[in-house]
Amino acid sequence: MFRTYTCGELRLSDQNKTVTLAGWVQTVRKFGSITFVDLRDRYGITQLLFSESLNGQLENNPLGREFVLQVKGTVNERSNKNLNIPTGEIEISVNEFSILNKSATPPFTIQDDTDGGDDLRMKYRFLDLRRNAVKKNLELRYAVGRSARNYLHENNFMDIETPFLIKSTPEGARDFVVPSRMNAGQFYALPQSPQTFKQLLMVSGYDRYYQIVKCFRDEDLRADRQPEFTQIDCEMAFVEQEDIINMFEGLVKRIFKDVKSIDYTETVPRMTWEDAMWNYGNDKPDIRFDIKICNLKKPATVFTNKTDQAALINGADFKVFDEAETVVAIAAPGCSEYTRKQTDELTEWVKRPQVGMKGLVFIKCNADGTYKSSVDKFYPEERLKAIAESTNAKAGDLVLILAGTEERTRKAISDLRMYMADKLGMRKNDEFKLLWVLDFPLFEYAEDENRWVARHHPFTAPKPDHIPVMINNNPAIEDAANYLAHPYANIKANAYDMVLNGNEIGGGSIRIYQRELQEKMFAALGMDATEQQHKFGFLLGAFEYGAPPHGGIAFGFDRLCSILGGSESIRDFIAFPKNNSGRDVMLDAPGPIDAKQFDELQIKLNLKQN
Ligand code: AMO
Repeated sequence: MFRTYTCGELRLSDQNKTVTLAGWVQTVRKFGSITFVDLRDRYGITQLLFSESLNGQLENNPLGREFVLQVKGTVNERSNKNLNIPTGEIEISVNEFSILNKSATPPFTIQDDTDGGDDLRMKYRFLDLRRNAVKKNLELRYAVGRSARNYLHENNFMDIETPFLIKSTPEGARDFVVPSRMNAGQFYALPQSPQTFKQLLMVSGYDRYYQIVKCFRDEDLRADRQPEFTQIDCEMAFVEQEDIINMFEGLVKRIFKDVKSIDYTETVPRMTWEDAMWNYGNDKPDIRFDIKICNLKKPATVFTNKTDQAALINGADFKVFDEAETVVAIAAPGCSEYTRKQTDELTEWVKRPQVGMKGLVFIKCNADGTYKSSVDKFYPEERLKAIAESTNAKAGDLVLILAGTEERTRKAISDLRMYMADKLGMRKNDEFKLLWVLDFPLFEYAEDENRWVARHHPFTAPKPDHIPVMINNNPAIEDAANYLAHPYANIKANAYDMVLNGNEIGGGSIRIYQRELQEKMFAALGMDATEQQHKFGFLLGAFEYGAPPHGGIAFGFDRLCSILGGSESIRDFIAFPKNNSGRDVMLDAPGPIDAKQFDELQIKLNLKQN
């Protein structure tokens, strides 16, 4: 037998047993005539003791880091115990050893706090994967997947594979394309998601489908985005939004329980998209902390149903506020005593190009009940007090106010809200807060093309009472400057996103399942009948053969894992990830292909010069 135990298994109760272990050499320490070796495998580390009698052999066969070693020996109690590791009370007195394979000196140390930089670790990912920290992440990923599969299986979902070589599925990104040798000049697209297939499976009667599946999107990468990533993709027939919400709230709660031993018993709050944008400045608010945006001045056209606090700032002759489209504020708890240096630092932060504000106005709500502000000149103290109170600031808080154009300012206050929460330690990695965001707009306006685009994807159904608005109105936008007045701007989608700690971990919708409405939707997006038939004829055709009402959701598996693991980056939870330029630095991919391959594909490369 190669090994009788793993390196994480032996305890004091195994004393005097003769055992065989195999693993990698973590460290070699020589003390006079004896040598200690830490032997590592996936399960742990066990200390080996090579006594003087083996010195000759060791001299002929010196051990080095990451050598693959097999040893036979006896389990003994250790004189110098290490209670930090489970095997720390014992060691193996080695009788025989055999070097199964040598190792070159690794380019970085294989330990928790490694000396290897990101690039080096990515290049030697197979070594990085030996590190405990990375292994823990993959173990967590496996646990999340297992928990999801168990839950979905128990609820009658069936795992069905769908193809990777397909025709484009629009999910808002660019497709990766694959040339077809047998159909020269034609290309497959890799799926951005199995969206249309899961809908076809509903038409086929497989009323509860799931798949833990790779999706491919050629989009700009960030810490929470990879060009190939994994979804827990689900679809159900004969359901309404409420059914989906209940089923998948259950899924996430089950994952919390199985993976983190967290009993998430509270009902997940629900927020409309409009409230999310209004109160938090984005559609995936982090609600671990209770800072809300106060809308001092809203633009004339957006949020028509909301009331702002413009009276508080109007008429003071303060041009910055008077001329701005939007003025928004937050109260930073306990920051009234910020020094000049600290407020300057915040001002610099909002002025960075990524945030793009011209400046920052603040009001200090002093503990003694007085108010001090950078705009004292324009606003007497009682007005500052009224503004501060509208933000729910208490004595000791610092009110931060931004002014500018709607979209940029709302994003900036949302970023500032997160920045302050980070500064104040209000975003804790081990605290989890789920949220449903509902009632998204069905359409978004594409200014450059003066047309509507689907906010989620074109298969999403409008809210039932908004269907007539869609059917009875012409999608054409006559007055581009006033597009918000078009009836389509107010159509809400039967769509939902699940948000965890400020991250969108899942999204889905109730689908269109009638041909006429689907055609209307495609037409609204600017597709004529020929294009509709060419791109989605298969789906439109299927809807004529008894398509049931259906809906679904997909969770970002990598994202969910990274949040549960307390990391910002999904890369840490993917065995072989790509870097920020979409490269696999270990494989050095993408790369050129042979002339022969081009010949077979009948493709000639003619790269455009920039
Ligand atoms: P959506 O495009 O919202 O929906 O994707 C679902 C979830 O997948 C995750 N995600 C990503 N994770 C890593 N890298 C990426 N590039 C990336 N893009 C998305 C997010 C997101 O919430 N077919 C629909 C689902 C449906 O309607 O049922 C879809 O794909 O966590």
